[in-house]
Amino acid sequence: MKIAIINGPNLNLLGTREPGIYGRQTFEDFLKDLKGKFPDIQIDYFQSNVEGELLNELQRAGFSYDGILLNAAAYTHTSVALGDAIAAISTPVIEVHISNVAAREEFRKLSYISAKCVGTVTGLGLKGYELALRYFL
Ligand code: DQA
Repeated sequence: MKIAIINGPNLNLLGTREPGIYGRQTFEDFLKDLKGKFPDIQIDYFQSNVEGELLNELQRAGFSYDGILLNAAAYTHTSVALGDAIAAISTPVIEVHISNVAAREEFRKLSYISAKCVGTVTGLGLKGYELALRYFL
C-alpha cells in the first residue's frame, strides 16, 4: 500500500510555529514514529509553501497511490485550484487539520477542498494523520 502525505504552507515550521495551537513536535519526528508504526506501508511525504507545487504533487500521486492525506493549511480556505485537482484525480483524499478549524476564526470555516475529499479529520492534533491513514487500511 502506498500513501502520500501532502502538507501545505507553514507546516514545515511545526514544532516552533504557534505551539499552543499546533504542538511542539516537528513533522519529521512525527513521521518517523508513524513510519515505525506502519512498516509495511510506503508513506511518502511532501511539503511545500507554494500552491502550484502542491497541485503538481496531487497530480503526481493522484493516479497511482492508494490514498492521500492532505493538509492544505491556509490554502484550504482560498484555493479553488486545489479543490479542482482533488476532483480531477482518482486517488481518494482525506483532508487533515491539526487544529479544530471550526473553533477558530470565521475564515477558517470555509474549505474549498472538503466537498471533494472522502472525509475530514480536524482538531485531533498530529494523531489525525494516523487516524486518516488507518481509514485507508
Ligand atoms: C491548519 C489550519 C489552517 O486554518 C491553517 O491555515 C494552517 C494549519 C491545521 O492543520 O490546523 O496552516 O490546516
